[in-house]
Amino acid sequence: MTSNNMNISEIQKLDDQYNRIKELEEFDNTKLGVKGLVDSGITEIPRIFHHPPQTLFDHEPQQPHTNDSLIIPVIDLSSVREELVKQVRDAAAKFGFFQVINHGVSVSFLERLLDAVKAFHELEPQEKMQIYRRDTGTSGTGVGFYSNYDLFHSKAASWRDTLSIRLDPIPVDPKEIPEVCRIEVTEWDKEAKQLGEQLMSLLSEGLGLSSDRISGISYLGRRAMVGNYYPYCPESNKTIGIATHTDPGILTLLLQDKVGGLQVKYDGKWIDLKPVCGALVVNLGDLFQVISNDTYKSGEHRVFANPLHTPRVSIAVFFSPGMYENIYGPLPELVSAERPALYQQLMFSDFVKRFFSKELDGKPMTSYFRL
Ligand code: OGA
Ligand code: NI
Repeated sequence: MTSNNMNISEIQKLDDQYNRIKELEEFDNTKLGVKGLVDSGITEIPRIFHHPPQTLFDHEPQQPHTNDSLIIPVIDLSSVREELVKQVRDAAAKFGFFQVINHGVSVSFLERLLDAVKAFHELEPQEKMQIYRRDTGTSGTGVGFYSNYDLFHSKAASWRDTLSIRLDPIPVDPKEIPEVCRIEVTEWDKEAKQLGEQLMSLLSEGLGLSSDRISGISYLGRRAMVGNYYPYCPESNKTIGIATHTDPGILTLLLQDKVGGLQVKYDGKWIDLKPVCGALVVNLGDLFQVISNDTYKSGEHRVFANPLHTPRVSIAVFFSPGMYENIYGPLPELVSAERPALYQQLMFSDFVKRFFSKELDGKPMTSYFRL
């Protein structure tokens, strides 16, 4: 087809597409992320960040929920075990999200960790630029700073920068972790690993299984950390901090600061996940939904673009299987004549491939593997 056969809007589309790729590259080449744009003094955000109205449509602040059952539970990990298992199970089944307190990690340490990650993002440009790269997988150093891991295959970019650190099964050389946050990140990894295992044992019991049924390298052997930075967005009504998505792996442990903006979808409605001092957010990933045969939910979530002049910082540790070639499907104990398997068996590597080739389009990963 030559341009003679195209109508104006088709030409316009191609033109936009061309400019978009060029503009994405220009943004990427700054190696300074969205914070760099804010620091340059922009008052309007580049159009590569404009989200289509359909994604922003339900982005309007909603009436606060008055119904008490629509609050993401805050669970006290020092409760009696039996009660604890029940609370964790109920929250995982209903929302796929909960917060935990009395988890054994001091509030002062968590604050130091948030400050350290914030300090990384607020380093001098030339220092941060040196580690600007997207590949933090099994190749490379395992540490990268980038903006929008899916920059080149999402329809619209989001207002967030990320420091990503590979932790397991091929741990990063600690020397590669930026010095401003090295001690805190290393310490947090140890704590997070332990907490992840503790939460898995509770969740396993919640499924009526022994506490160690879903543990070890097969389920929790891979860990990666991201330190997200959501700077002030001058046109926060045109974009988003992180688009609606579910986390792909098994479990995510998230520490957010006081700023807020994280929401969880339940029954078609968005619920604010309000920051609770000293609490950690726990959410289940798609692979957990699959192995639990839908007993547990992988909760959809998103973060608003930050309209405040205070930057928002969050730190997530993602747990997933240690071996790419392992096969996963609904656990046999959870499959019966009354409740047949809802998912096909899948290789973890297929899952990962699918995740990185898809944009955060709001379609849960589980939908690709449902029978
Ligand atoms: C994520 C995520 C939420 C947040 O990184 O997958 O959902 O509060 N982050 O930053
Ligand atoms: Ni997430």
